[in-house]
Amino acid sequence: MDLIQNVIAIDGPSASGKGTVASRVAAALGFDYLDSGALYRLTALYAQKKNVDWNDAEEVAKLAKDLPIEFDGQIVRLAGEDVSKAIRLENIGMGASAVASLPPVREALLQRQRDFLTEKGLVGDGRDMGSVIFPNAVLKIFLTASPQVRAERRAKQLGLPISGSDFDRILSDIEARDEADRRRPVAPLVQLPDAKLLDTSNLTIEESVKKVLDWYGEK
Ligand code: CDP
Repeated sequence: MDLIQNVIAIDGPSASGKGTVASRVAAALGFDYLDSGALYRLTALYAQKKNVDWNDAEEVAKLAKDLPIEFDGQIVRLAGEDVSKAIRLENIGMGASAVASLPPVREALLQRQRDFLTEKGLVGDGRDMGSVIFPNAVLKIFLTASPQVRAERRAKQLGLPISGSDFDRILSDIEARDEADRRRPVAPLVQLPDAKLLDTSNLTIEESVKKVLDWYGEK
């Protein structure tokens, strides 16, 4: 299999910080960045707006195929409306998880994800960048951190303390989502044999970005 020299695939669990690392690596290399989770989130939001049930595989797949979306820097538009904040809501995260478990929906979004690659190069982050979307990426990374550290990062992001009942709920949500992502039959979250493990539990964002850039430099 010929490797694609200008693609980096970064997969990993919820709240691992892969989005931040992936977008900074992309900026450093002058590559585009694909936040594949955003496509599942947009699909879930679009289905909600169209009153389509998240478990209706065929109807959700139809919507996913023709998602009227536009990425403009940090802004994401759906049918012309700025939904950058709306897609980050917890409820839409749950919807994303539901629609992401439907094979016809994943199939509908496959080519769309590959189309993000141009001659500029691409850093993609998600659950199946290395296994399904870009199996011939020159560099594959499994980026993770311990559940405790990921829960702390999510709590800080939400402006909540890193102990107490809210924190316990965040931690158990993260563990539940990990379990669901690993066990699902389609595109389960796994570390591929050809992916490098980047455990960021004790690394800063800068250190994590540097590690990825160093690995890419060795290619
Ligand atoms: O980081 P977090 O898990 O909160 O969100 P995300 O990366 O935006 O992904 C949202 C949901 O989409 C996750 O629960 C994944 O199950 C799913 N997803 C997926 O199945 N495949 C991808 N390539 C990206 C996300």
